[in-house]
Amino acid sequence: MNFKKTILCIGAGYVGGPTMAMIAYKCPQYKVTVVDINPERIARWNSDDLPIYEPGLDEIVKTVRGRNLFFNTDIEKGIKESEIIFVSVNTPTKTYGTGAGMAADLQYWEKTARQIRESAESHKIVVEKSTLPVKTALAMERILTSMNNGIRFDVLSNPEFLAEGSAVKDLEDPDRILIGSRETPEGLKARDELVKIYANWVSEERIITSNIWSSELSKLVSNAFLAQRISSINSISALCEKTDADITEVSRAVGMDSRVGNKFLNAGIGFGGSCFKKDILNLVYICRFQGLDEMADYWEGVVKINDYQKERFILNMLSAMFNTLAGKRICLFGFAFKANTGDTRESPAILIAGRLVEEKADLIITDPQALKNAMTALSDINGQINYVEDPYDAAAGCDAIAVMTEWDMYAGLDFEKIYKSMTKPAFIFDGRNILDHEKLFEIGFNVYPIGKPALTHF
Ligand code: NAD
Ligand code: UGA
Repeated sequence: MNFKKTILCIGAGYVGGPTMAMIAYKCPQYKVTVVDINPERIARWNSDDLPIYEPGLDEIVKTVRGRNLFFNTDIEKGIKESEIIFVSVNTPTKTYGTGAGMAADLQYWEKTARQIRESAESHKIVVEKSTLPVKTALAMERILTSMNNGIRFDVLSNPEFLAEGSAVKDLEDPDRILIGSRETPEGLKARDELVKIYANWVSEERIITSNIWSSELSKLVSNAFLAQRISSINSISALCEKTDADITEVSRAVGMDSRVGNKFLNAGIGFGGSCFKKDILNLVYICRFQGLDEMADYWEGVVKINDYQKERFILNMLSAMFNTLAGKRICLFGFAFKANTGDTRESPAILIAGRLVEEKADLIITDPQALKNAMTALSDINGQINYVEDPYDAAAGCDAIAVMTEWDMYAGLDFEKIYKSMTKPAFIFDGRNILDHEKLFEIGFNVYPIGKPALTHF
């Protein structure tokens, strides 16, 4: 079949896989290929067991794979054959050298740029899909054009705003698509090419364009603002616990002001996920580099409050359970960093599990999607940890349940049955405020929500 356009995506991860599946699904006239250096990941994209869990994704991949969506490891061929190249490789926090623990590690990014330069034989539009420090496109352009071989490259910034667990919905019906370009005739022409792809299913007013630096920066700032709301409400949850105010009531009252809005105001055990922390730290690093220390301190505070919230949760457990957890069986309900994903990257549950093991507690971990990733995440921890799929079996014989992930299924469990199977006194620490606390108290549990008075029988 003759396709109207050939599109390549380098990086078959949480972003590359779903975004390209959606483009292929909405645009049967384009050929979309996704490549990766990791052959196991590619093999799973070509199997019935996709490498990531995302509601609705299996159906889409099944519809388009082999039709106009292809996964393979031949990066060189992919580059040669395509007109538009999305790059969605990982950009983790640097763990070595200057900027360690703060700056973005751009090694995967730069390797990709060099590979495109070496394999390209004709004009390419290169699209930054990964989240990158502002001004990365300049470095990209310099690498791409350094061979002086007459091949033209236009670099665009098109950050991805999907959230895990709702990726398919976010891609199908995005709040906005942002495309940043150079404001030269060639830059604008390249931008229009990308606009045309999204215009296949996204309405015109939702496709916004900007200069390339604004686009790069907007992605970091979007994540920083979202995370800042969570730290803001979490900081207030601590005050609620001291004053008998109720964080759910405060958050509802504040969020009903249409200027504030009600989203991202759920208090909990702190934000996780692969991006919020890394992107804020990257923003902090850029600010410090630019001599903007006050601004850097302000944004660093968002991460500090997040750490404080996790630590507070542990200290509350310790104090509620008579200041010792040694030998006690604690069941973690959920391990994913949020519901509807199997992803455990930066999940608050990792730190909490580690701290509970330090206190010599025995852990039983249950999660409908994330047990395999949980085992990997905790593989360095020496302690008594069991992984149990069924939440009833997991909770049986435990002294306490701590809710780590807001999976809907937990609210619907038969807690009378669970209570009967647990050691007494039985405790529930609802780190996500998703359970019916009054009812649990009536059943006999000692209940410790976040940012609300505890309900105890003592
Ligand atoms: P990921 O780790 O799941 O996937 C990245 C993939 O890139 C991996 O499979 C890796 O093998 C591959 N890769 C690395 N170097 C390569 C190379 N030289 N050639 C080919 N493949 C290579 O990461 P992700 O979660 O998809 O995130 C990718 C980028 O998107 C990051 O910058 C992230 O900040 C951003 N982002 C992520 C999300 C999210 O929900 N995960 C949302 C928006 C933006
Ligand atoms: C986030 C952003 O929402 C996406 O727009 C962005 O594209 C993505 O990061 C990225 O750049 O990687 P994601 O991390 O997948 O998406 O999930 P979120 O829904 O934002 O949740 C992040 C964390 O915040 C989770 O641990 C979640 O439980 C927590 N959270 C969220 C709260 O504690 N309270 C809330 O009210 C909302």
